Amino acid sequence: MCGIVGYVGNKKAVDILLEGLTSLEYRGYDSSGVALNIDNKVQLFKAAGKLQNLKDIVNKNYSEISKSTIGIGHIRWATHGAPTVENAHPHSCNCGRVAVVHNGIIENYKELREKLEKNGCTFRSQTDTETVAHLVASKFAQTQDLTEAVRLATKEIEGAYALCVIHQDVKNTIVATRRNAPLLVGIGEKEYYVASDVPAIIQYTKQAFYLDDNQIVTLTPDSMKLIDIENNSISPKIETLPWEPVALSKMGYKHFMLKEIHEQPDVVRNVLSGKLRAIDENITLNEVTLDKDKIKNLNRIQIVACGTSLHAAMVGKYIIEDFCGIAVDVEPSSEYIYRKTITDKNTLVIGVSQSGETADTITAVRQAKSKGSHILIITNRPDSTMAREADSLVPVNAGIEVSVAATKSYMAQLISFYLIAIYIAEIKESIDKKELSDLKHELIVLPQKIEKILAHKEDIQKCSKAFSSSKDFIFIARGINFPTALEGALKLKEISYINATGYTAGELKHGPIAMLDETMPVLSILMSGKVYDKILSNSEEAKARNARMIALTDSVDEKLNELFDNIIRIPEISEILSPALAIVPLQLIAYYIAEFLGKDVDQPRNLAKSVTVE
Ligand code: G6P
Repeated sequence: MCGIVGYVGNKKAVDILLEGLTSLEYRGYDSSGVALNIDNKVQLFKAAGKLQNLKDIVNKNYSEISKSTIGIGHIRWATHGAPTVENAHPHSCNCGRVAVVHNGIIENYKELREKLEKNGCTFRSQTDTETVAHLVASKFAQTQDLTEAVRLATKEIEGAYALCVIHQDVKNTIVATRRNAPLLVGIGEKEYYVASDVPAIIQYTKQAFYLDDNQIVTLTPDSMKLIDIENNSISPKIETLPWEPVALSKMGYKHFMLKEIHEQPDVVRNVLSGKLRAIDENITLNEVTLDKDKIKNLNRIQIVACGTSLHAAMVGKYIIEDFCGIAVDVEPSSEYIYRKTITDKNTLVIGVSQSGETADTITAVRQAKSKGSHILIITNRPDSTMAREADSLVPVNAGIEVSVAATKSYMAQLISFYLIAIYIAEIKESIDKKELSDLKHELIVLPQKIEKILAHKEDIQKCSKAFSSSKDFIFIARGINFPTALEGALKLKEISYINATGYTAGELKHGPIAMLDETMPVLSILMSGKVYDKILSNSEEAKARNARMIALTDSVDEKLNELFDNIIRIPEISEILSPALAIVPLQLIAYYIAEFLGKDVDQPRNLAKSVTVE
């Protein structure tokens, strides 16, 4: 993660850098910094903590700092070294003439550092990035050419990086390069922009190109030169970004998370739009290029993902197995990539990622691709690195999600899985038509049911308040809602820092029940269907150990009042679709508890929205 931005042209660089960093805050917010060339001198401004701290520093001396028309900036999610000012980027060399910002991890930084220290370099930080600054400075001393210095440096660097470099002696020039970390170049009138992601530049230009691995670009206000690591000249593939500048506004909500939870009814409508036209018509998925015969012959599906996307994938497994009769394995990408990749051309591999930039998932799909599997990517970012690896691309159209805790993108991923499962089932004719049309009808009316939950959110708020002093929280469910329990617990941990865990209700008695007493809240996800009675029994077992019982249910059974201290009732729904409804109150519970505890809901500590390191 980390976000980088660069500008060279005729405008006030610091304004563009700070605006850009603001839109990249989802990539980290441990510290930030900018490097500018002011009066022919490279100067660094850095601050630990939120970006506002850097803005305050800049504002104190704005008239001086804003003179510069070239600069690079960085927002950090700490990997190597604590989130201090010393470890904040940009980093520099001994003479202070070079400034470097970096996203990624330099894996051989220890060896490089040792070598550089032997040659007289003095390190000021604990970061892997500082090695790049010293390395580029030493190469520049040999070559007096910044592009060549960067090129030679990258030949010695192992790992992942997107880098932007400026040098005091090379006026009005930014050199940028990447390997396994995203970077794009925006083209303006006698000006260029560099950024980790589109939102940082889209208000200035739509003309841009993505750097490929091992390409190096040299930018001045009047020129752009692109080469590969072997010094061959390359023509950039310039494209028009399909983005509109968006004013990211909370629209009156206190936090982006609450706004995004409320956007979910429309997100469902968007995902279904054009794909589910009528309950008696087959699903259209133009983006799936796998031909029908191959779909009929699929013997296995593997799904790789991380975090919240992994939970959507787990729901996807239940749906696809149920509808299509194909065995589905779901695995965290970070595990998948470190064991033997057993996959082949009859296996469909699905990568799920909100950002499309999660390093582990990118590596996982690349490994599967090399074995000949068809790669289907479900992502909220059709312009991402992962999307470019796709044979079939299913964009989820959730819109920009600002809050680090994913909500509406999870909903969009779930709905995409329903569509994919129905699509395959229709080709394979593996399920009764009536059952499919019932589900299609339910999908169409789902937004109204979510709206009903949102209309009664004050009840959930009250219930959440009653549990906000709990140190621990347990969520139990079975079957298709086990991932809902995991996701509910993840939301709560992420933003309230309460130790929350999701269990399959049947496993409770095999260990976790030992933790139960009158202080422990147990939330049972008790949706009508084949495991309802089982979860009820497991809830009785928890009640017998004096746990504080909460039910999340679509049942109207009055008898539940005896067993549960609190009941959150939601509209009735079929078991198969229930994860898409049951998650909404859990998102609200997490939100209200965190808000009540005064936590930083949209930017929880230690997290980043896009994790571009393995
Ligand atoms: C980070 C985010 C999570 C997200 C996960 C996977 O950890 O904080 O919210 O679920 O990455 O991200 P992806 O973009 O691949 O869905």
